[in-house]
Amino acid sequence: MVVARITGRELWAWRNWAIDLARGSGVAKREVDWLLQSVADLDRLTLRLESIADNRSIEMAIPLDRLSTLWLDRIEHHHPVQYLVGKTFWRDFELVVSPAVLIPRPETESIIDIAIDSSTSAQQQGIWVDLGTGSGAIAIGLAKTLPAASIYAVDCSPAALAIARLNANQLDVTDRIQFSHSNWWSSLAPLQGKVAGMLANPPYIPSQEVLQLQPEVVKHEPHLALDGGIDGLDAMRILVDTAPEYLQPGGIWLVEMMAGQGAAVTDLLTRQGCYTNIQIIDDLAGLDRFVCARLRG
Ligand SMILES: C[S@@+](CC[C@H](N)C(=O)[O-])C[C@H]1O[C@@H](n2cnc3c(N)ncnc32)[C@H](O)[C@@H]1O
Repeated sequence: MVVARITGRELWAWRNWAIDLARGSGVAKREVDWLLQSVADLDRLTLRLESIADNRSIEMAIPLDRLSTLWLDRIEHHHPVQYLVGKTFWRDFELVVSPAVLIPRPETESIIDIAIDSSTSAQQQGIWVDLGTGSGAIAIGLAKTLPAASIYAVDCSPAALAIARLNANQLDVTDRIQFSHSNWWSSLAPLQGKVAGMLANPPYIPSQEVLQLQPEVVKHEPHLALDGGIDGLDAMRILVDTAPEYLQPGGIWLVEMMAGQGAAVTDLLTRQGCYTNIQIIDDLAGLDRFVCARLRG
């Protein structure tokens, strides 16, 4: 929808102003073009320098002063650009995000590939659970890669679940995922003993460290998604202790953790006694990021 027209020269001047602010604040320059493409509805061609530095009329989906307000929000108040544009890219799809959900991170993308690589074809046709679904990223990733699986996704935040359902709807996988409001497994009692794979990216940052994260994270992302208690392992302990009741024998327990927590999570799994094949798996940056185990039996 066209709501404003400006000249190429005005757009050029605005972009330079925004890039200068970005440089001064350590924000990536590509975010300026992302905002222009996503919110102002400009295409890449229009943004090519030679086509905007002239007097041609350019159609915009929002007025330039509104765009400036958004950019100042980004720079001065550290609003993540993903919340400003209302979306992010994850694996091969686009997800709606709002401050009700954690912005899904690129490092989490590998959890889907690890799940596929770790499972048998029979398991891939079974029941999979995404605990703490947030935007729905993991559940939707599973739905797209495991066409025969039944997928359940839960979160204790109703606002996050609303975003997850919206994403599933937009990506046409609503009929593949059953979402429910739940404190971890609490709404999933009928699945006891039947789950082929449990995936989770739980809150795992030690409480003291949450406040020292980048301002974009501390000020705007939901602390419910971040804060893992004193040592960061509160949710891990629950997931280690509760999953054996729900997993099938041989079922997969696959969880993202903070780099450096591998030994502690391995210890929790070992001491619980029901798990075997405990493996720490690095992310693409070479950091210990995932723990995968199987229920004995
Ligand atoms: C780190 S975020 C992960 C979101 C998403 N899975 C992702 O990878 O982007 C953790 C999620 O766990 C949810 N959560 C926290 N405590 C929970 C609980 N007791 N039961 C269910 N979900 C919980 C939070 O609301 C949040 O959406």
